[in-house]
Amino acid sequence: MTAQSAPVIIGVIGPKGGVGKSTISANLSVALARAGARVVAVDLDLGSANLNVLFGMKSVSYTLDDFLLNKVQNLEDVVSPTDIPGLSLICGGNVPGIASLPYQRKIKLLRHLRKLPCDYMLLDLAAGVSNNVVDFALVATRSLLVTTPDVPSLMSLYSFLKTTVFRRMSLFLRQAGSDDLLDLLEMARDVDRHPELKSIEAFFDQAQRIDPELTGKLRRINKRFDPLTLVNRATPAMGANAGITINKLMEKFLSLRVHDILSVREDPAVTRAAMKLRPVLLDEPDCLFAKDIARVVDVLMN
Ligand SMILES: Nc1ncnc2c1ncn2[C@@H]1O[C@H](COP(=O)(O)OP(=O)(O)O)[C@@H](O)[C@H]1O
Ligand SMILES: [Mg+2]
Repeated sequence: MTAQSAPVIIGVIGPKGGVGKSTISANLSVALARAGARVVAVDLDLGSANLNVLFGMKSVSYTLDDFLLNKVQNLEDVVSPTDIPGLSLICGGNVPGIASLPYQRKIKLLRHLRKLPCDYMLLDLAAGVSNNVVDFALVATRSLLVTTPDVPSLMSLYSFLKTTVFRRMSLFLRQAGSDDLLDLLEMARDVDRHPELKSIEAFFDQAQRIDPELTGKLRRINKRFDPLTLVNRATPAMGANAGITINKLMEKFLSLRVHDILSVREDPAVTRAAMKLRPVLLDEPDCLFAKDIARVVDVLMN
């Protein structure tokens, strides 16, 4: 028997609501399944789950709540098949208060997610910058940063990235027990009082003087976070510039590697599909949106 390789876990991240996370998650899942992969789409927008609706699935036997509240033992018990071959769905539940998941339950969920038998897992994440969202984003092996071209969406994406970069490093430093570097990291978080530590590179420079070995590890941890930027609802007038802006900020202040910006165009076909409760790729496979999603799939599969 060959060992099953771990799934590629794609975190679909967009701290602002309504930028298209669920739409992109649903259609990317369809496209990957059609390319022959075994795909599980997971609705992690705990508390206001709606991914099932995009697939026209109104009622399912089990949702993520049943797993989180220990009503079923295995995560596999809450995986629902869809009409699309190769594609299954874990529906989010809507138990009030579930969005602030206790840490232990979250860890259990993350452990089970990594073990699900599939090739690709799409995590449709909630808006906001809560610890939950950031921690779910950390489990992803690929992060897709979804933004629309407007300034508020770009700003909230940047603050999400900054929080994530700091959280990755502080989790590591807490484990390593390095109080000195943790203090320095806290100072770097407070840009108003410590403008000299405004960029992660400036933090690394100072950290290097305190502990070169740990700083080397921190640099590697930061490099491993390698997200892709996707500008959704792009129009000819606004689109490319938005991606360039966020990539520049990522490079300059967060020392993150940047990639070619993925762009998904504004397309009325998406609205038509939403009214029919079907992913647009099913009924209008040649629309602008579908063409752009195909390019995203190419990047993710290679
Ligand atoms: N490329 C696009 N063109 C047109 N409408 C879009 C596009 N992407 C998303 N939408 C619409 O934007 C709205 C919000 O999308 P949704 O996926 O629910 O966002 P999120 O999950 O980030 O809150 C939906 O009505 C959706 O149909
Ligand atoms: Mg959503």
